[in-house]
Amino acid sequence: MLVPMVVSVRFFILCSFFSFIISSSIAHTSFRPKALVLPLTKDVSSSIPQYITKINQRTPLVPVKLTVDLGGGYLWVNCEDGYTSSTSKPARCGSAQCSLFGLYGCSGDKVCGRSATNTITGLSTYGDIHGDIVSVQSTNGNNPGRVVSVPNFLFICGSNSLQNGLASGVKGIAGLGKTKVSLPSQFSSAFSFKRKFAICLSSSTSTNGVIFFGDGPYNLNMDVSKVLTFTPLITNHVNTVSGFLGEPSVEYFIGVKSIRVSGKKVPLNNTLLSINQNGIGGTKISTVNPYTVLETTIYKAVADAFVKAVGAQTVAPVAPFGTCFATKDIGFSRMGPGVPSIDLVLQNKEVVWNIIGANSMVQLNDVICLGFVDAGSNPSTSKVGFVMGGLHPMTSITIGAHQLENNFLQFDLAASRLGFRSLFLEHTNCANFNFTSSA
Ligand SMILES: *[C@@H]1O[C@H](CO)[C@@H](O)[C@H](O)[C@H]1NC(C)=O
Repeated sequence: MLVPMVVSVRFFILCSFFSFIISSSIAHTSFRPKALVLPLTKDVSSSIPQYITKINQRTPLVPVKLTVDLGGGYLWVNCEDGYTSSTSKPARCGSAQCSLFGLYGCSGDKVCGRSATNTITGLSTYGDIHGDIVSVQSTNGNNPGRVVSVPNFLFICGSNSLQNGLASGVKGIAGLGKTKVSLPSQFSSAFSFKRKFAICLSSSTSTNGVIFFGDGPYNLNMDVSKVLTFTPLITNHVNTVSGFLGEPSVEYFIGVKSIRVSGKKVPLNNTLLSINQNGIGGTKISTVNPYTVLETTIYKAVADAFVKAVGAQTVAPVAPFGTCFATKDIGFSRMGPGVPSIDLVLQNKEVVWNIIGANSMVQLNDVICLGFVDAGSNPSTSKVGFVMGGLHPMTSITIGAHQLENNFLQFDLAASRLGFRSLFLEHTNCANFNFTSSA
């Protein structure tokens, strides 16, 4: 019995050695997932709704709640508040890990770092770059599957002050933006799957929306990857958020060519719809802005056309909105309030993002308002500043979270295109991924 025993021990050592080599470069297990899935919960514990996900991080693993920022460049986590882990490692200056972050600084003890931003409050603080194990559920698109881990997931160490303003229990921000260190990029490179990810925001605080990393199928009672319309993602060569000075924007811009209300083109200053050489103008998508923000002349033109098309009397507006009606004057259907569709016309007349009543309107009991915010209504927001929880420098149209709810969005980074579809039109919604059963 002695000989086989020795062989098996040697075999075991060999295997562990081999798996150690693999784990230091890619993922922790030999199982190679095709996609990953995370829940996405609407949180209204603070005044501004935030969309929250949860990952497991550290050794031993602990659940970490994070606000999701579609246009954020990286993951940052508060390291000041009880961060303990036997596997956390600082990134050494000059290492490949530091350069993945683009511009970075170096501390006295030769740990690289860069500034992390709380896009809800606008505060930025410098923090060290660390790597630690992150584990999430894989998926075949239909159910959650096996848990997989990335042993050295890179993030910036945030602080208590940076965490202020995040929803209750949230320890940091998960950036999904166009960088090499955003969550989609690190997961795609760890598991060698397609550089695609998708988000679907639930409108309810009691049901989970979903984030998928990797390609479809994406089963929300039907495979929604089959019903997407595509539009190019546009690069803004100038950053529009602090913390990325001297670097291109890592947010997702699309090309809105015109806006129609009830099928009629709204007269707009077209210059505002494209991004100029200083990075000003254009249209971006944001999960940290609760409502769509429009440059002031665009807001006025759209609101005027909308009021005419609704044909009801307006009532005194409720901030932050500027255009409201009496709820009793508006009919309701399965698609939400029965108001004219607001259509964002994209690369041509046939490619249109329809904003239906459920996404355009916000009901506040007896009053129901057009859920768009005039960027010019607050002087501090006219250049670089905040409107309702997000940075609003210079971009003419920021499509906000209320307008994204129950719309499925797939970001294809390799093809640089966005796939989108309103799930109301498919008789399903973002809460229909089956998180309970295991594949
Ligand atoms: C259109 O917008 C651009 C950029 O803000 C501005 O320079 C121009 O004067 C505007 N044109 C008109 C006709 O208002």
